[in-house]
Amino acid sequence: MLKLSHICKRYGDRDILSDISLSIRKGEIVSILGPSGCGKTTLLNLILGLTQPTSGKIMFDGEDLTNVPMQKRGFNIVFQDFALFPNLNAWENIVYGLRNNPNASTREELEELIDLLGLRKHLTQSISELSGGQKQRVAIARTLVLKPRILLLDEPLSALDGLIKESIKERIRTIARQFKLTTLIVTHDPEEALTLSDRVLIINNGQIAQFADPLSIIREPAGDFIRNFIISQLMVKRSNILKLFSDCPPKSQAFGDSACEPFAAVS
Ligand SMILES: Nc1ncnc2c1ncn2[C@@H]1O[C@H](COP(=O)(O)OP(=O)(O)O)[C@@H](O)[C@H]1O
Ligand SMILES: [Mg+2]
Repeated sequence: MLKLSHICKRYGDRDILSDISLSIRKGEIVSILGPSGCGKTTLLNLILGLTQPTSGKIMFDGEDLTNVPMQKRGFNIVFQDFALFPNLNAWENIVYGLRNNPNASTREELEELIDLLGLRKHLTQSISELSGGQKQRVAIARTLVLKPRILLLDEPLSALDGLIKESIKERIRTIARQFKLTTLIVTHDPEEALTLSDRVLIINNGQIAQFADPLSIIREPAGDFIRNFIISQLMVKRSNILKLFSDCPPKSQAFGDSACEPFAAVS
């Protein structure tokens, strides 16, 4: 279990995060949701160990990690811009971290991960030849081969659209469930947060506005910020979609076989 107690982070004279306390269970998928600049990446960096809190405590499975350096925490992050090595191909990127930790994953585990992320046919391609979704999957594979105790993802879906986005969401869910991997995902998109995660941590003005499961947030939004920032956005989307389909109900033939398996054709 990951436990944050009274975490504060100040830059200069600005309090970026104030009194953040929460617990996250093993294997749970948690989205960190809030508007741009609210401190989401800062919170992820604090957990990773890239940034030190001004005050407060970070515990993992009963161990105090607050002053433990990043390399010894055993957490790992997929950065917002993927941070892949452009001079290496997909395979070389995936196995890069194994140079220093050759026993982190067995060959079988590596092969399984490559299949799970649908990367087998892209292994010899250079990074510049890959699409956004493929790059994202390479970045996730590169992180997972090192068997992190917690997986942190900073806006993993914000550069992706449509079915590619849904396909990556599905893969993140599968991996978290299959490996019982605690997964924290930063996003500024309410739909993404509420459809991907077990619980959503909503941050506003450096504080927790609500930390609950998606249904509870929809049914019992805790305050005006959540009603205005989250629920209103979702209601607009909902009415747009309903309006489109009420005027023209979809015929499954029009979508071909992919209507039954929406992610099958996505690469
Ligand atoms: N190293 C830093 N030094 C000073 N201010 C910072 C630093 N990192 C982030 N900030 C500030 O902290 C606030 C939150 O940033 P960030 O966590 O990146 O927001 P988010 O990821 O939610 O968009 C922003 O106002 C940002 O300018
Ligand atoms: Mg950010």
